[in-house]
Amino acid sequence: MSGKIQKTRGGRMKYEERPDGHMFIEKAQILWNKKLSPAYFKMGLKWSGSFHDAKPGQFVMLRIGDRIAPLLRRPFSIYKIMEDKKGMEILYRVVGECTGMLSEMREGESVDILGPLGNGFPLPKKGGKVFIVAGGIGVAPLVFFSSYLVGKKNFAASNIKVFLGARSKDDLLCRDDFLSLGIQVAVTTEDGSEGETCMITSPVEAALKITRPDIIYACGPSGMMKCLAGMAEDHGVACQISMESVMACGFGACLGCAVESKHENKYFHVCKDGPVFDSRDVRF
Ligand SMILES: Cc1cc2nc3c(=O)[nH]c(=O)nc-3n(C[C@H](O)[C@H](O)[C@H](O)COP(=O)(O)OP(=O)(O)OC[C@H]3O[C@@H](n4cnc5c(N)ncnc54)[C@H](O)[C@@H]3O)c2cc1C
Ligand code: FES
Repeated sequence: MSGKIQKTRGGRMKYEERPDGHMFIEKAQILWNKKLSPAYFKMGLKWSGSFHDAKPGQFVMLRIGDRIAPLLRRPFSIYKIMEDKKGMEILYRVVGECTGMLSEMREGESVDILGPLGNGFPLPKKGGKVFIVAGGIGVAPLVFFSSYLVGKKNFAASNIKVFLGARSKDDLLCRDDFLSLGIQVAVTTEDGSEGETCMITSPVEAALKITRPDIIYACGPSGMMKCLAGMAEDHGVACQISMESVMACGFGACLGCAVESKHENKYFHVCKDGPVFDSRDVRF
């Protein structure tokens, strides 16, 4: 990260990375915080700046208001950008302290937001066939990515096939987001409560035997991504994966989010070099 964190005249902390950039720390106002099921929520956030250059696959670091704990920000993928580009949505699963506190926040309250961070998904070639594979909450950045692709000229929804996997029906998210974009969706659950009863990698493997996509994009548990990386290699298909890791800073300062590279003694930092990687570069 090459910029500076500065205090503005209004007392807000602002991060400027580059003259045309929009990476910042701001207070964002909660527009809504909707419970989708006991563990999943969607939150709308708005602030005075703009998010017009945010790329699908990028993420934000959130810190809850002015409370002392939890001290560290937490990373969340950008799930949707609002039409006026002045706000965004996140989709989150309650797993611990911060997400628990977030789930109790109300409209009108505020959180600190730093972003957009990370690299984002590289685009497929024009008219290329794309497989998108989402496991659980890993679906969040892939909704933004799919709507971005469908909104582009020379890229039809029919070029995309989404594979959506979850542990059970209650963990199955965003199917309607894809369907409303005109994208075909294959669904699996581990307990058989919805769709096929298997891991999501099974229908991907079956589809790879029939159609060879130009590229696979994936986000989900590391076991799923490891399996996809192997399949992509076997079929000679490019594969881009969005990785998760524990993050303290989100911009390359703490070196806490290292993952091993396949290239001689090298480590990547998920926040700065990723979160999106070519699957051939990562050692699982
Ligand atoms: C680039 C990136 C993007 C992310 N995008 C999203 C997103 O869009 N939506 C979302 O819900 N989460 C996302 N995450 C994960 C999210 O950051 C964590 O769930 C969050 O930091 C947990 O904070 P906490 O304080 O609630 O839990 P903590 O108190 O920090 O952890 C509580 C427990 O949960 C475990 N835990 C932490 N993270 C996870 C996890 N992801 N799944 C299962 N167990 C976990 C911990 O190991 C610990 O045992 C993303 C992570 C990264 C790195
Ligand atoms: S989170 Fe600090 S270096 Fe990646």
